[in-house]
Amino acid sequence: MKNTYKVNNPATGEFISEIEMNTKEEINLALKKGHNAFRKWSQVNAHERSDLLKKWMDNIQAHKAEIAELMTRENGKPIKESLGEVDYASSYIAWYAEEAKRTYGRTIPSHNESKRIVVTKQPVGLVAAITPWNFPAAMMTRKAAPALAAGCTFIVKPAEDTPLTTIRLIELAHEVGIPVDAIQYVIGEGKEIGEIFTNSEFVRKITFTGSTPVGKTLLKNSSDTIKHVTMELGGHAPLIIAEDADLDFAVSQTIASKFRNAGQTCVCANRILVHENVMDEFANKLTTEVTKLKVGNGLEEGVDIGPIINEKGYTKIIAQVNDAISKGAEVLVGNEYNANHQINTYFVYPTVLKNVQLDMKITQEETFGPVAPLISFKELEEAIEIANSTPYGLAAYFFTNNYKTGIFLHERLNFGIVGWNDGAPSAAHVPFGGMKESGLGREGGTEGIEPYLETKYLSIGDL
Ligand code: SIN
Repeated sequence: MKNTYKVNNPATGEFISEIEMNTKEEINLALKKGHNAFRKWSQVNAHERSDLLKKWMDNIQAHKAEIAELMTRENGKPIKESLGEVDYASSYIAWYAEEAKRTYGRTIPSHNESKRIVVTKQPVGLVAAITPWNFPAAMMTRKAAPALAAGCTFIVKPAEDTPLTTIRLIELAHEVGIPVDAIQYVIGEGKEIGEIFTNSEFVRKITFTGSTPVGKTLLKNSSDTIKHVTMELGGHAPLIIAEDADLDFAVSQTIASKFRNAGQTCVCANRILVHENVMDEFANKLTTEVTKLKVGNGLEEGVDIGPIINEKGYTKIIAQVNDAISKGAEVLVGNEYNANHQINTYFVYPTVLKNVQLDMKITQEETFGPVAPLISFKELEEAIEIANSTPYGLAAYFFTNNYKTGIFLHERLNFGIVGWNDGAPSAAHVPFGGMKESGLGREGGTEGIEPYLETKYLSIGDL
């Protein structure tokens, strides 16, 4: 009998589905099929691959409401966010359907009359992806679309909490004619599948979105066969409110950044640094707006904040808030919880903490929850030092209408994504990724297809 796991709704505990896990033999067979399919798929001309990707995107859009509902049921995010994520996921396919036609090479003037020098790009081969539960659609298409566009074949292991959205998206790809072995999924436990992927001679590239510790293990394990890697790992984003910031606008953007997906994103603001002269005003305005956020089942009308994905995530958030309070943080709103351990539902009410200090866990660890910690600063230099004092370097935000302050902050912040008066910078056509322990490589934009391509240099002699 096969091992299975159950997928439940994190908002209600309702059973959704029982999924069969693949055996090691089945996973290895899927990898072999993906490898064998590579030759044929990579030879499908770029315009045809592009057309197939566009048809996949159209098919996803035709099923938008169904996919969004499925996503909210397995992930818990509010339905308006799930609908937005279906569009976000589709936008990666649309972008890479175009980029498929632009994987240009070049010629290099020769140093010798009898030679010609040509540089071409070719797909790396079979790509194995491991995707997270927080964006079950977009994090998959952000990898699958450039891989297929480049001519690679693709296999994904979706997160155990949210496999259903991924499975459905891949069915929709097969429906429009993308070959079944060119895009596949396998189901199972992360550590085991990670090892199979990294050990496999068939896999030429590993792409992962998830925690930094898991990313480090995948990197180490990929070294034996020198695989290509793209790692989109953890974050601990600073958000700086300068003295001259437009506070109403900054509050709306802070909410967009901090409370999207109940704070369960790698790019969400995790340390909110506010100039001491505007701290009280900013804190009051933020608290007023946060109080309006409605917590509940994401399928219900008007809900802004869904559940925390599981008990582990919930316990971590509470531990960080309690640690902060025990060291002197003041609760302006929130610090309320609603858990039902019998049916595994965990809600954290949006929380704002003031007087947050640098020795508190919340300023050192990624929170992945709807908690906004406010830290006061006097000088911009001090804010920059605090902002950069982390091993992470994914996203940073700042709010100022002074262009000199803006340029100064942009140049000094060591983060791959910077939002200046912008709490929502993600998009398919921009390079998303982090510095330091937040990752390697970029996804999205023209940069996002490069990691799926090898550069090949041809020297033609004797002319
Ligand atoms: C993430 O949290 O990893 C992705 C968020 C985004 O694409 O905006």
